[in-house]
Amino acid sequence: MKYLLKDGMVVDPIAKAVTKLDVLVEEGKITAVEHQVEAPDAEVLDLEGCYIFPGFVDMHCHLREPGEELKETILTGTMAAAKGGFTAVACMGNTNPPADNSAVINLIRDKAKEASFPVYPIGCATKGRNGEESSEIGDLVKAGAVALSDDGAPIMNSEVLRRVMEYAQMFNLPVISHCEDIDLSGTGVMNEGLSSTLLGLEGIPAAAEEVHVARDLILAEMTGAHLHIAHVSTAGSVELIRNAKKRGVHVTAEVTPHHLCLTDEAVKQFDSNVKVNPPLRTRSDIEALYEGLKDGTIDAIATDHAPHRSDEKEMEFNLAPFGISGLETAIPLVWEHLVETGILSPVEFAQKMAFNPGQILGLPDRVIKAGYGANLTVIDPRLKLPVKVEEFISLGKNSPFDGLVLCGWPVMTISKGEIKFSRHQ
Ligand code: DOR
Repeated sequence: MKYLLKDGMVVDPIAKAVTKLDVLVEEGKITAVEHQVEAPDAEVLDLEGCYIFPGFVDMHCHLREPGEELKETILTGTMAAAKGGFTAVACMGNTNPPADNSAVINLIRDKAKEASFPVYPIGCATKGRNGEESSEIGDLVKAGAVALSDDGAPIMNSEVLRRVMEYAQMFNLPVISHCEDIDLSGTGVMNEGLSSTLLGLEGIPAAAEEVHVARDLILAEMTGAHLHIAHVSTAGSVELIRNAKKRGVHVTAEVTPHHLCLTDEAVKQFDSNVKVNPPLRTRSDIEALYEGLKDGTIDAIATDHAPHRSDEKEMEFNLAPFGISGLETAIPLVWEHLVETGILSPVEFAQKMAFNPGQILGLPDRVIKAGYGANLTVIDPRLKLPVKVEEFISLGKNSPFDGLVLCGWPVMTISKGEIKFSRHQ
């Protein structure tokens, strides 16, 4: 198929420019990006007033397959990703069995092929995700793992993490760290602070995250490995990462939409859909996360899409599992809170959602230029709609944003030259 995307505002994260241009897509590639492209045999898509971004990459989601297909499958998760405006995803290895060996990585890749959507598996850093012994990293890399992580749990043993980093570095792979000192987080269910005291819920202190961020940065400095910090949630973590970057430590970091949009005060309704790990923090943490995005301390925005079964989330707050189903709300949430408000420009948005995650994971084609693969995310900033959880494609309906009216929805997702989602008539 040949598509001519007409009159959209093309966002270039490298030249830092937004220009009204036509984009021609043929045979999976971008073949022309110019002011007026003539292509009589192409299907014309009028994108006047819309932004055309390089294809967004969600570098942190949980697709639950194998093992927890009642929560999500690779097919439903990737369809949700496409509807959410993502052209590729990287999925975490806390499946059942965990993705700590080539057989599971191969299974994920086979299912992704069936779903016809780019899925980049993240292999477990340690065998069984138990933090005791490094996985067969060479085996995981050969099978196609793009990073290593025990996400959902930290590696408590520093010596084990050191070895994982040393091996990962030999293969040029990032180690994605879930920073949580589990002795400090204990049985906490929300941020430790005024809100947890008022609600009588057990708290997770900021230090539970920051102690591990500091340790992991020291180990990254020692080994020279590429450390990527997942779901940064506190002002202290932002400051530690900022200082490490200044010293030249090879570190990158991500933040989730929910940590940017909600404070721990949201817990006062006792809605278990706001129960996430790390927990929602305070207004001053959010301000620090904004600052971190602005000055480049935080490189990427990632969903941490964590679908759960309704019967699990319907349990009382203390017992419900951690996680938000985030693929289908990430873009309008960030658009409404950060782009509409001028905190991030469309160019910075393209860097955080497409270019930087692509760079971190080594995925090509995150720019809109002739000759590159056609991965494109189209957003209509004028489109204002309520979130409707019952219309989620994801099997995970655990979202605290149901009914919230947001603007800046994705209207078209093109991955490898194919339209995977379109609101266009
Ligand atoms: O809220 C979360 N849910 N945080 C994590 O780190 C893991 C995730 C999950 O897998 O449910």
